[in-house]
Amino acid sequence: MSTVTPSDKDSKPGDSDSSGKQCDTKPQRRRRLGVPHAAKLYHNLVPAYQAFWPAVAGRNIRMAIGRMEMAAGAKVLEVGVGTGLSLPNYPTHIDLTGIDLSESMLAEAEAMIDRNRWQHVDVQAMNAESLDFEDNQFDVVTSFHTVSVVSNPTRMMSEIVRVCRPGGQILIINHFRSDNPLIARVVDSAGNVTRRLGWRTDLELETIMSELPIRIEERYKPNPFSFFTIMRAICKPNQIN
Ligand SMILES: C[S@@+](CC[C@H](N)C(=O)[O-])C[C@H]1O[C@@H](n2cnc3c(N)ncnc32)[C@H](O)[C@@H]1O
Repeated sequence: MSTVTPSDKDSKPGDSDSSGKQCDTKPQRRRRLGVPHAAKLYHNLVPAYQAFWPAVAGRNIRMAIGRMEMAAGAKVLEVGVGTGLSLPNYPTHIDLTGIDLSESMLAEAEAMIDRNRWQHVDVQAMNAESLDFEDNQFDVVTSFHTVSVVSNPTRMMSEIVRVCRPGGQILIINHFRSDNPLIARVVDSAGNVTRRLGWRTDLELETIMSELPIRIEERYKPNPFSFFTIMRAICKPNQIN
């Protein structure tokens, strides 16, 4: 597993090298953050999470990424990459950065990267609500099952839009509150339990996305009974040259 050297820690995303090219953040793995409550919670959840989550979520992620077109060399950011469940599903011709608040989750993702000797993926400790990247840096930004666990989902989505270039793609998989009032009420009642796991069930897709400068291209359920919605949007469509 890679370690953080002092020089790694000192470099910042967006720094330039001598050629003036934007330096990638690849050597910066595992920049340390404080330990906000969400990170601690997910540290404790890693074993349980790895036991059941891949079966629940893996197929949806595979399907959603498989439907995306990502050009060779495309800069892709995954927000809330966790243990790296999604990583094997991305094409290897892209330049992928994953961020997460939890260092324990990231340690698992790093182990996977090292095991597979992937050169195209890097993971970093970072808060989704205040991303340490320049505006318009990424061609694609993805996030799976994270917008309902961060403290401020609106801020996270604004950050995603900020770092995604005009015309770039945004892919979100999450549980959103059902449009069916009966189902919504039943699921809301489970919210008291899931909130203790740091996961809210009452997030409404319209409320959270409607103010953002995005154009929703697709919004669908992986199957009619799924708890999850997959949304793909074009970022800042009015600013495309
Ligand atoms: C339910 S897990 C999903 C992980 C992964 N996307 C997946 O589908 O397997 C939610 C992830 O969000 C991360 N997280 C929570 N709050 C965060 C924040 N403010 N910034 C970045 N990551 C955060 C957690 O550490 C956790 O890895």
